[in-house]
Amino acid sequence: MRGITKTFPGVIANDKVDLNVKNQEIHALLGENGAGKSTLMSILFGAYSADSGTILINGKEVEIKNPNVATALGIGMVHQHFKLVQNYTVTENIVLGMEPRRGQILDLKKARGEVAALSARYGLAVDPDAKIEDISVSQQQRVEILKTLYRSANIIIFDEPTAVLTPQEIDELIEIIIKLKDEGKTIVLITHKLREIKAVADRCTVLRRGKYIGTVEVADISEGDLAEMMVGRTVR
Ligand SMILES: Nc1ncnc2c1ncn2[C@@H]1O[C@H](COP(=O)(O)OP(=O)(O)OP(=O)(O)O)[C@@H](O)[C@H]1O
Ligand SMILES: [Mg+2]
Repeated sequence: MRGITKTFPGVIANDKVDLNVKNQEIHALLGENGAGKSTLMSILFGAYSADSGTILINGKEVEIKNPNVATALGIGMVHQHFKLVQNYTVTENIVLGMEPRRGQILDLKKARGEVAALSARYGLAVDPDAKIEDISVSQQQRVEILKTLYRSANIIIFDEPTAVLTPQEIDELIEIIIKLKDEGKTIVLITHKLREIKAVADRCTVLRRGKYIGTVEVADISEGDLAEMMVGRTVR
């Protein structure tokens, strides 16, 4: 993403922001509340359109007018607030909108099989027949991840995924994210938790008050220096 600017009434959410994500890396997007992280990723996912700036995928400029275009380009997003249908099953939610059919009829058996295969391949244990309203938040998050995989996402954006998880669930999610990378996926991880960045990310881009501050190799920087980039002053 190059020179992305997005204003809302009275606020510049993104002010000429650059984000350069490499294939098959885990790239953290760090910033304080209101720094512009979700806005930038909503632009990449086609939920907002930028006022100016360009997006390139594999070096080719693309115009991402809406989330369907993002999906077709292999971009998936696991939102901060999940967008699941509470009284549908796990399988129904995952295939929603792209259900396999036999004639006019939903081929639920095929859908179930596809979900089970994805679930096994990526270590995302879920009960395919459970209703969303009956499963835990961490399982709902797995459903969101499976939804992106079912749509063949290559770039998966996670917006503050650990905010809703217990410490043990966070460790499990970190394993899942590493597995996704090992299977060839590219990950953008929005967070303001430095420990998580150190645990999982290859590189990190920092935003502060809508502005691009810099991109660093995570192995080369301390948590203290990352915090300083995030807030703009020495943190003790
Ligand atoms: N739909 C909107 N309408 C008006 N202002 C918005 C909208 N979305 C975001 N903003 C504003 O844009 C700025 C950036 O918000 P954004 O949600 O991108 O930040 P963030 O880095 O994701 O923060 P957080 O850590 O709180 O999720 C904030 O000042 C926010 O109030
Ligand atoms: Mg946000």
